[in-house]
Amino acid sequence: MPTGPQIILTLKVLVVAVTLLLLASLVALAQKRPRRHGQINTVFFILTLLTVMAFEGVLQWVDVSATFDDAARQALRIHLGFAIPAALILPAMFLSGKMRKKTLHVALAVVFSILWTGTVITGLGLPH
Ligand code: HEM
Repeated sequence: MPTGPQIILTLKVLVVAVTLLLLASLVALAQKRPRRHGQINTVFFILTLLTVMAFEGVLQWVDVSATFDDAARQALRIHLGFAIPAALILPAMFLSGKMRKKTLHVALAVVFSILWTGTVITGLGLPH
């Protein structure tokens, strides 16, 4: 079984990797290639959900915050305050994109971008 710090480090690598995909999808959008944006983000969506599900599974066996002091636990709470709403919005982002509900999709994108930025910044700051 991996240790808590190993799990957190793995999560950081995965979050950076999917963030690169998200950025690539925005480049595709800027190049007026919305279909490519959709394809890249479909992969982003699947990988992010798989990561969340795998993490939830591992949490049944490992207490990742066992080695955390009070400050680190507070940092984890703040991180989850971004990460959980971001994960909840993701299916709506995917469906609104697929259904071409552009106004809804772009409105959700504003909220999602804030939440994802917060997830990455507060996540990378966690101790491992
Ligand atoms: C975070 C910033 C994002 C912005 C600014 C953005 C913006 C857009 C825009 C402007 C379109 C074109 C809509 C149209 O022409 O009707 C689009 C399409 C789409 N987006 Fe996003 N999006 C973002 C994130 C995401 C995410 C996170 C996902 C998936 C979870 C996603 C999935 C899609 C899909 C599937 C399409 C349809 C592509 C197609 O036409 O085949 N987008 N997006």
